Amino acid sequence: MIEDCKFIEFSQKGDERGHLVIIEGNENVPFDIKRVFYIYGSDRDVIRGRHANYHSEFVLINVSGTSKVKVDDGINQQIFHLDRPHVGVYIPKLVWKDMYDFSEDSVLLCLSSEHYDADEYIRDYDQYLKIMKEKENA
Ligand code: TYD
Repeated sequence: MIEDCKFIEFSQKGDERGHLVIIEGNENVPFDIKRVFYIYGSDRDVIRGRHANYHSEFVLINVSGTSKVKVDDGINQQIFHLDRPHVGVYIPKLVWKDMYDFSEDSVLLCLSSEHYDADEYIRDYDQYLKIMKEKENA
């Protein structure tokens, strides 16, 4: 689970005009991208996310500024520092995630494998632990 969370470095085409980063579903992102949203204007002391998803996989990229993502599979935790516009973190389904420590200029781009469905979000951590325990014992 946690070991499946990993940085993805996207190809960059830079020249004297600036940088261009290329992201393609089923190519350098390991799923078909169905949804894109972005988060900005969150203060340093805000913690976003605080959920896991039954089905959605994500890639998070700080296209501007910096933030941190803590991922948790109910047993292990890992912190990813997002601070480069051409590097994202892949987060599979059923991983709990907290996004925090947003810089003032942070724009956190989120790519998802699924359309939004509130019912596939697990927002209670105790319930999440229960689900993961049941999964482990199945
Ligand atoms: P939320 O999941 O709390 O955001 P984050 O994970 O970044 O902390 O979403 C905030 C609100 O926006 C919540 O009411 C659900 C809604 N929302 C959508 O309608 N569609 C979406 O794709 C997302 C990500 C959120």
